Amino acid sequence: MNSAAIYAGTFDPITKGHLDVVGRAAHIFDRLVLAVAGYSRKTPLFSQEERMEMARDSVRVFDNVEVDIFNGLLVEYARSMKINVVIRGLRAFSDFEFEFQMALTNRKLAPDIETLFLMPNEDYSYVSSSTVREVAELGGHVEDFVPESVQRALQSKFGIHA
Ligand code: COA
Repeated sequence: MNSAAIYAGTFDPITKGHLDVVGRAAHIFDRLVLAVAGYSRKTPLFSQEERMEMARDSVRVFDNVEVDIFNGLLVEYARSMKINVVIRGLRAFSDFEFEFQMALTNRKLAPDIETLFLMPNEDYSYVSSSTVREVAELGGHVEDFVPESVQRALQSKFGIHA
């Protein structure tokens, strides 16, 4: 039987921290679906299509990772994909409360779906999509935090010419 997992997020945009988690999960599972959420509590900078394109470009190096989009509940999406493991990255203690709430809510909604937490490399434990967006908007360099194609997308979004 092939093992599979879903790594869901807003990915606005995908960062090297996310990609570190992708690499770890891709190593454990035969197949990893990176699922870009349509609905989240946040109002994203990038459209779902743009976030998917950036993610797709960034995971090209992994031959067992595919990128998809989903709308609605994550657990419903997981069921529709017949995948019962959802990956989340845990960077620091500050992530825990929200992740704990989400994992237990998802468990209540779908007891058959398990949330698995992976810790990214400590080099990325402070990286977040919102700080990357802020630095890029103010003209700072973000190449340490995001892949080159994401850096270009941010520059183009903010009308910054490299
Ligand atoms: N490296 C770097 N940054 C990371 C990271 C990592 N490994 N893991 C998380 N982050 C950061 C992101 O950069 C982002 O930072 P920001 O808040 O500053 O923008 C933040 O942590 C979380 O973003 P992301 O990883 O994209 O996930 P998310 O928390 O936005 O994803 C969903 C949430 C989409 C999974 C969740 O809202 C969902 O399931 N939505 C569908 C609707 C649903 O089912 N709701 C019920 C859930 S209880």
